[in-house]
Amino acid sequence: MTDAVIQITQENHIYTLTIHRPEALNALNKLVFNELEAFFTTHANDPEIKGVIITGAGEKAFVAGADIKEFSSLNADQGMMLSKRGQDIFFLIERFHVPVIAAVNGFALGGGCELAMACHLRIASQSARFGQPEVNLGLIPGYGGSQRLPQLIGKAKAMELLLTGNMVSAEEAFRLGLVNEITDSGNVLNRCREIIQIISTKAPLAIKETIRILENPGLNNSQGYEDEHITFGNLLVTEDSREGASAFAEKRKPSFLGK
Ligand code: CAA
Repeated sequence: MTDAVIQITQENHIYTLTIHRPEALNALNKLVFNELEAFFTTHANDPEIKGVIITGAGEKAFVAGADIKEFSSLNADQGMMLSKRGQDIFFLIERFHVPVIAAVNGFALGGGCELAMACHLRIASQSARFGQPEVNLGLIPGYGGSQRLPQLIGKAKAMELLLTGNMVSAEEAFRLGLVNEITDSGNVLNRCREIIQIISTKAPLAIKETIRILENPGLNNSQGYEDEHITFGNLLVTEDSREGASAFAEKRKPSFLGK
């Protein structure tokens, strides 16, 4: 037995990483980050690996966000560091040399939606729900969502989702271009494996370069990521953000004062 929060399986050189924190709807805490980092650095130059699938344990959630219960003890600098760490780990995923596919079962909210967006493709079950609800916590996204969401779905819809904090269904996410395909919940992992299998028959150097070139400076504004983690840290210590996290833990509506 291990205390790992990510279960890793491998079949035919396709790895499946299952984030397993059912008590917190698979929310991203330090341990999840450490294990993601270890996997993606260990396999950074692995010539055998064909692809990686990231999913969440259970039917209810892919990942319900950053672990809100870890926020209350953080000061602004620690908030910035947390956000920067999340961004850096998600860059490891985005820059991985073979396809990484998010198999989205259930809620993909906040950091969970950001994790899915850092993957190269997203395959969702019909029950998947996507959203960036950080405004309910007095925050902005901290793991690249303010940059990747407008890249994927355009500024108008990204602005709407980020300002309202509303969730969208799998169908709506597909219509917006956030999701590549929707499939039955029992078939999501199989479909991801099929796609990786197809891609693995193509020229490896071309696959690697395709992934790299889509992350070009025209699409990726490093200033935007820096602005995101600094703003995240500064907002994390506002009274409103403390109130948002307390209200979440106490299962009540937050009362925001604009401070
Ligand atoms: N962090 C920590 N714990 C979480 C969590 C999170 N993001 N999401 C859910 N949980 C916990 C709940 O506190 C609850 O624990 P207890 O049983 O101990 O009370 C358990 O998981 C089950 O959750 P709910 O009882 O809330 O389940 P529900 O079905 O009523 O609601 C939900 C499901 C709508 C997803 C709701 O859990 C929810 O709104 N979660 C938070 C979503 C969110 O705001 N995500 C963004 C986080 S901030 C972020 O990610 C910032 C960033 O970009 C870096």
